[in-house]
Amino acid sequence: MNLKEEESREQVWKMFDKISPRYDLINHLLSFGVDTYWRRQLIRHLPQGEDIRLLDLATGTGDQLITIVKKAKQVHSALGLDLSQEMIRYGQKKIIDKPYAHQITLMEGDATNIKLQKETVECVTMSFGIRNVTDVDKCLYECFRVLTPSGRVMILEFSLPKNLIIRKLHVFYLRYVLPNIAGWISRNRKAYRYLNNTVESFPYGAEFCEKIKQAGFFYVKAYPLTFGIATLYIGDKLPCGNDL
Ligand SMILES: C[S@@+](CC[C@H](N)C(=O)[O-])C[C@H]1O[C@@H](n2cnc3c(N)ncnc32)[C@H](O)[C@@H]1O
Repeated sequence: MNLKEEESREQVWKMFDKISPRYDLINHLLSFGVDTYWRRQLIRHLPQGEDIRLLDLATGTGDQLITIVKKAKQVHSALGLDLSQEMIRYGQKKIIDKPYAHQITLMEGDATNIKLQKETVECVTMSFGIRNVTDVDKCLYECFRVLTPSGRVMILEFSLPKNLIIRKLHVFYLRYVLPNIAGWISRNRKAYRYLNNTVESFPYGAEFCEKIKQAGFFYVKAYPLTFGIATLYIGDKLPCGNDL
């Protein structure tokens, strides 16, 4: 990563403060609603068991966390952390008065410096957040540290399709269509141009699996979704045979 990219990553969560009011709308609109399907795929691979404590990093407005708590009965409590105060504030508005509100806590927090004791959660999730953190390896080590021995990390992130034609079409969409429409709706074209540059430059597939393994995880797997536009990565803290 060059210095310029490093600096802009330092600032990235500040951009989310600015785009927070339209973030959910833009997500659903520009993914044609497919993001909802990707989030549900993650739920299929959650660890089984009872009373699972879950930590959602870079939780944003809480879309992934809320979907999990609504659909996965094994999740007892869920904590969502994000550096952007405004994203958290929108998330809190979404859950207030909901029957599952008591299961969810949303607060400011850094995914690369998690203020939790070691071995305190059974599952760590992170959807579309890892490519925005300044130190990806540190974030993965932090996931490992806070997980209980039977714990699982689940990371959903954009990737690039393998098929050359689909990939070219997708890159065209990322470069020329998405930043213009999202920039117009959010009134912040710069934010969406940056975010899509990160999609093209971030490691994915086997390369990203290697990073997860280096953080100490076993049984690391990548599940490409929708032609590989997104990928779900899963790793277990110990080789103790959690059902995948
Ligand atoms: C694309 S949004 C994803 C939000 C949410 N997880 C979702 O699925 O919609 C990325 C989020 O990462 C947050 N972020 C960036 N760096 C972070 C860090 N070091 N720790 C916590 N959150 C961070 C941003 O503030 C932003 O809300």
